[in-house]
Amino acid sequence: MTILVTGGAGFIGSNFIFYWLDKHPEDKVICLDKLTYAGNLSTLRPVMDSPSFKFVKGDICDKKLVFELFKNERPEYVVNFAAESHVDRSITGPEVFLQTNYMGTATLLEACREFGVGRYHQVSTDEVYGDLPLDRPDLFFTEDSPLHTSSPYSASKAAADLLVQSYVRTFGAPATISRCSNNYGPYQFPEKFIPLMVINALNDEPLPVYGDGLNVRDWLFVEDHCRAIELILRGGRVGEIYNIGGHNEWRNIDVVRLVLQELNRPESLVQYVSDRKGHDRRYAIDPEKIRDELGWLPQTGFEGGLKRTLRWYLDNRPWWRDIVSGEYREYYQKMYGGR
Ligand code: NAD
Ligand code: DAU
Repeated sequence: MTILVTGGAGFIGSNFIFYWLDKHPEDKVICLDKLTYAGNLSTLRPVMDSPSFKFVKGDICDKKLVFELFKNERPEYVVNFAAESHVDRSITGPEVFLQTNYMGTATLLEACREFGVGRYHQVSTDEVYGDLPLDRPDLFFTEDSPLHTSSPYSASKAAADLLVQSYVRTFGAPATISRCSNNYGPYQFPEKFIPLMVINALNDEPLPVYGDGLNVRDWLFVEDHCRAIELILRGGRVGEIYNIGGHNEWRNIDVVRLVLQELNRPESLVQYVSDRKGHDRRYAIDPEKIRDELGWLPQTGFEGGLKRTLRWYLDNRPWWRDIVSGEYREYYQKMYGGR
């Protein structure tokens, strides 16, 4: 069986490739990735020489390349992780988000229509639901919550979800969608909250907390997300959306405090900075559907998962040092300098 994984040189896609090859070494995994700033070929080093793995550098918006790949490889499953994924970057430069997240999805759907696949899975996000108020802890996102996007990133993801649903209805595409909460774990790009705080703490640099630090995110260990996607591919109903989350809500400032405590660094490193524009207040997933239909439950608790993640960043300094010493420096200066 051949599975095409797009965006597999990024954070969740690479973890998914490792997960899949570990569980199904008999399958062939093809990774299609453009290697944007967020894609890192060195991440895939552990599988690069495996006869079960093939890497193709390319853009999911490139119809010629994508059609050629489908024609030659005839993937049975397609899982689309490829995206521009950072909210802050979507605020400073929205266009590429629309191009990759929407037009890229459109190109993949067209290829599936032309060549036929067993399953197409769209990796979406809970951000399509907008946010929840802090004073209503009884509210959660369900699959029926309205789309209510806040950033160009979430709008581009919601638009792609609607396109996927239109292909199911109009062309009978065998597609599913998942909307997961915030992931953390190994290989997450340093621009994201947890790795950014970990790396800054290790470097004894200020930890920039947006606004009042009271925004809430629902954290899930990346392997739990990967397992949920496999369950959806195998047993999820075509045309359905599945929310993924583990009822693990944390205020940002409390995550920062935990990181500092684990790394034995002082709280004086915390620096409150001006807020993100349109900053979503709280995300919280109701995972009842995936639990009841597919038996999915998270297996990794937050404190254990965070310890594993910190250990990974401590043991893999060359991986992130290479990133933070390059063009990332410019990005950091632009985003945080004088903020
Ligand atoms: P990431 O930014 O770490 O990785 C994205 C990958 O996609 C990179 O390897 C990049 O090179 C590749 N890519 C970007 N544009 C491409 C293009 N045009 N063609 C081919 N490849 C391209 O992202 P991530 O955090 O791993 O997120 C993966 C997916 O999961 C995204 O679709 C995101 O919306 C979704 N998601 C992320 C989270 C999270 O917490 N990180 C939570 C829920 C959903
Ligand atoms: O919920 C799923 C989404 O989670 C995914 O769809 C996105 O791809 C992923 O990036 C993530 O979005 P967030 O905006 O929630 O994640 P981020 O890591 O950017 O920020 C998490 C929280 O931390 C958010 O409230 C903003 C805050 N933050 C972030 C950074 C980078 C800070 O306070 N300081 C920072 O420097």
